[in-house]
Amino acid sequence: MTSGTLIKIDNVRKTYAGKFEALKGVNLEINRGEILALLGPNGAGKTTLINAICGVVIPTSGSITVDGFDVIKDFRKTRSMIGLVPQELQLEAFEKVFQNVSYTRGLYGKRDNPEIIEKILKDLSLWDKKDNRLRELSGGMKRRALIAKALSHEPQILFLDEPTAGVDIKLRRDMWRVVKQLQEKGVTIILTTHYIEEAEAIADRVSVINNGEIILTENKDDLMQKMGQKLLTIELQEKIESIPDSLKDYNLTITNEGQALCFIYNSQAETTGITALLQEVKNSGLKLKDLKSAQTSLENIFEQLLKESA
Ligand SMILES: Nc1ncnc2c1ncn2[C@@H]1O[C@H](COP(=O)(O)OP(=O)(O)OP(=O)(O)O)[C@@H](O)[C@H]1O
Ligand SMILES: [Mg+2]
Repeated sequence: MTSGTLIKIDNVRKTYAGKFEALKGVNLEINRGEILALLGPNGAGKTTLINAICGVVIPTSGSITVDGFDVIKDFRKTRSMIGLVPQELQLEAFEKVFQNVSYTRGLYGKRDNPEIIEKILKDLSLWDKKDNRLRELSGGMKRRALIAKALSHEPQILFLDEPTAGVDIKLRRDMWRVVKQLQEKGVTIILTTHYIEEAEAIADRVSVINNGEIILTENKDDLMQKMGQKLLTIELQEKIESIPDSLKDYNLTITNEGQALCFIYNSQAETTGITALLQEVKNSGLKLKDLKSAQTSLENIFEQLLKESA
């Protein structure tokens, strides 16, 4: 396959136990070499979708191909291309790091290759722990050990399900660096996260999933523009009926029954226009009572998107 699409998810539905519909017709294409972040609240269907791509969860209908191969019919082929770092920390506590990662490689039918395992452990800064038992690692190191296991068979695709849940900011940044380096080596990466800043730090594209539906897939930069929106509420001492002419250029709305003006601006823009606006408000003779500003949060955006898609 020569096109940019590596993974194709076509109208995938998953109904658990014959009643709960966790995925409601998901369509998504993942490009070769990209980092895609799947964002969504608890229970949105992120893990279900990832597990479906990995062939661990069987969709009720629809199809998924990886590099043109069907994930069910050609399971062994597609699974061998994929490394999966599961959401739950499950490790063989008493095994030693090097042996365990090396053993995992064997599970994929790959021949022993100590050099490759050494390289993976060094890349993940785990080399000095190679002879430690897994239970002797810190939480962040355990996450990295899971990543090492997922990379042991040299997959082209890496799934990271909540790779930094409960990980401190320093380790989180280390992890981001590792993920970026993998991308530079040509690995396609799909990660799930609740953290907007994580998507912001490393993703090329972002997909937002809610209630089993993908409600948006967009380039990160475009999404961040949207998320950078802030709301400024200018409370007035006296009610107004209409916006004064001198403020007509400012895309304001009257709220709070005439007692406030609302201004939406992009906090990431070089100039927000607030200073000029406040000067104009003053010039127009309006008397300020208070100023309030609020960030449009991911939740706001979910709500907005859901309303739009309803
Ligand atoms: N084996 C299962 N049997 C029945 N329902 C399930 C099963 N696995 C998941 N679900 C349900 O499917 C929905 C989606 O779950 P999923 O684990 O995919 O969500 P998620 O987006 O990964 O959430 P989180 O952010 O909490 O990890 C949830 O309502 C969950 O209860
Ligand atoms: Mg999950």
